[in-house]
Amino acid sequence: MSDSLIFEKSVPGRRAANLPECDVPRRDPAELLGEGNLRESLPLPEVSELEVVRHYTRLSQRNYSIDYGFYPLGSCTMKYNPKVNEKVARLPGFARLHPLQDETQVQGALQLLYDLHQMLAEISGMDAATVQPVAGAHGELLSLMMIHEYHHVHGSPDRKLVLIPDSAHGTNPASAARCGFTVKSISTNAHGLTDMDALKAALNENVAALMLTNPNTVGLFESDIVEICDLVHQAGGLVYCDGANMNAMLGITRPGDMGFDVMHFNLHKTFSTPHGGGGPGCGAIGVKANLEPFLPIPVVSRREDGSYFLNEDRPHAIGSIHSFYGNFLNAVRGYAYIRALGAKGLREVGENAILNANYIRARIQEHFDIPHNRICMHEVVISASRQKSQSGVRAMDISKRLMDYGFHPPTNYFPLIVPEALMIEPTETESKQTLDAFCDALIQIAKEAAENPEIVKSAPHHTPISRLDETAAVKQLNVKWVPAEA
Ligand SMILES: Cc1ncc(COP(=O)(O)O)c(C=O)c1O
Repeated sequence: MSDSLIFEKSVPGRRAANLPECDVPRRDPAELLGEGNLRESLPLPEVSELEVVRHYTRLSQRNYSIDYGFYPLGSCTMKYNPKVNEKVARLPGFARLHPLQDETQVQGALQLLYDLHQMLAEISGMDAATVQPVAGAHGELLSLMMIHEYHHVHGSPDRKLVLIPDSAHGTNPASAARCGFTVKSISTNAHGLTDMDALKAALNENVAALMLTNPNTVGLFESDIVEICDLVHQAGGLVYCDGANMNAMLGITRPGDMGFDVMHFNLHKTFSTPHGGGGPGCGAIGVKANLEPFLPIPVVSRREDGSYFLNEDRPHAIGSIHSFYGNFLNAVRGYAYIRALGAKGLREVGENAILNANYIRARIQEHFDIPHNRICMHEVVISASRQKSQSGVRAMDISKRLMDYGFHPPTNYFPLIVPEALMIEPTETESKQTLDAFCDALIQIAKEAAENPEIVKSAPHHTPISRLDETAAVKQLNVKWVPAEA
């Protein structure tokens, strides 16, 4: 086996550092720490400095990232984030702030938050915003808490039902249930859109809200959206927009103008923070005036003299959803991204995200089933049903084979309403050459599935390890190094 594939490097007596003998008088560790706190031995890997450097460099090279290659993970908007935004977030004036500093010392940071809230409200057609939630799902939960409070204050605390289309992201029903609501699923029609009859039949005096993703998770724009919002409002409910797909709407259309009362943004998708692996996020929300009084405290406000302050004097606020002001440096990145692009640049983001998804759709449509094959928004959902019925090759196999061609797989088996789904979101940041290389690989895999299905079913062949028991890898993850028996 090649040296680089041998994980265990420890050799007794080997050291990474060669320090001179300590010339400071030693104190007895037992006296310093207490006898019971001392270990007999500490089994650490014994390795040279070169081995340590190579170990971590090798591990980093096995990690796929947007800085390494194309990452078309649908619904995740894995777009390239300009490095300058990282630089801005690391400026000491932002990065070294302490959340307990006096307001007079953090006027710049407060102004940034105040302006960012205004920009997000403008972009979404809302009246106010907050960047306090730290994930999209957190923004959903906050919005539902505010909807709950709204109905309480408006004399209908019994509205306990939240309607959610069956194509929704799993976090939507989870957030509603977590907030104490009962979830009712609304079916999707043959065109991949909300079934209007099912919606009308479900509306009644118990409905607190409809949660809708637009563009929806099939990658399609809900063309009846104005009527949908009107119907829910007439029934006394509010309409929530899961705005994780905002990348497709930037500068083109605004949820607030469609009739939505509240929405969350995934700042970490649309507005520049690198994400994946559970890093810090920002699930900012935007609200119409009817929900503004319920925003979490503190709200960043401006006094008549132009100074900014953290306003806690908000009698209807639902409380706080996170300590201090959420992940402030995500807000800094989002602010830098929006200011750098401006209105024109943001619109180009939306247009190119849509163009890229449709380019892929057009290039591969002969080779795969596309359940709703018409102009899509920023992502295209294809199906491996044809391959499955012809040669037993499933969506998962196609994803694994894509890794052999050097690409990160698309999202698999979501949305649940599309059998053998592969959800591809190219984002606006990819070039035509990259999209072509990806389409070529998919077309080649479709040919392999027909002519030599085993090569697809047993993929990947060129990665350090091939197929994992994916459930065990998640449920029984073991990252603890234990020394080999002597
Ligand atoms: C449509 C949609 N809604 C909500 C979320 C939840 O966002 P987060 O992962 O930041 O909680 C996601 C995330 O993938 C999403 O794609």
